[in-house]
Amino acid sequence: MNKGKFITIEGSEGAGKSTNIHFIQNYLNKKNIEFISTREPGGTPVAEKIRDLLLDKANTSLCDDAELLLMFAARSQHLNELIIPALEAGKWVLSDRFTDASFAYQGGGRGLSWEKIAQLEQWVQGSLRPDATILLDIPVDIGMQRVRERGETDRFEQEQLSFFNRIREAYLKLANDNPERFHVIDTQPSIEDVHKQLSVVMEKLTVQV
Ligand code: TMP
Repeated sequence: MNKGKFITIEGSEGAGKSTNIHFIQNYLNKKNIEFISTREPGGTPVAEKIRDLLLDKANTSLCDDAELLLMFAARSQHLNELIIPALEAGKWVLSDRFTDASFAYQGGGRGLSWEKIAQLEQWVQGSLRPDATILLDIPVDIGMQRVRERGETDRFEQEQLSFFNRIREAYLKLANDNPERFHVIDTQPSIEDVHKQLSVVMEKLTVQV
């Protein structure tokens, strides 16, 4: 049996991940492609418990290395329990964030060493990388405005604008360094326009099946 495709969705805060993931799910359903939809950190019961630790605002003392290691602990569980078995069963996997988020948030945002993150990536994933990554891009001030309008913020969303500027830069650098894997979508225009951009990407990915 063919392996499924592994698609990850990334973006800065307020880039509209939920709405656009919903659009991609509908697209795959219409094409009769069997897929699972999941998220990071999280996706399995153990990894969701790690997510709670990571997002809890009460954990003000969590140090940057522990944050990074917890992301990869959750990822290891997620890969072994859910992602790899699904891909091997021929299903597509749609993940709301994956390792690019560790490079962007812990590398770009927190300033941790890119090499250390790459070592963890190698250890936890071996040669497994997403087949395609959709980066939903939005200027930081607009994205953060949307997050604040939503109300309740988590441990990450409480950070300063400079933290999110570094994250956006890191995401754009990752996209620039991996042009064959990344598809950058500008989410500033109307929802119809964003969906048009997404359809073009999804068309390319699904004709390659
Ligand atoms: P979410 O808000 O998109 O559900 O993601 C949860 C938060 O976790 C978000 O602020 C990004 C952050 N994150 C990291 O810092 N590193 C990672 O590796 C992942 C997967 C998420």
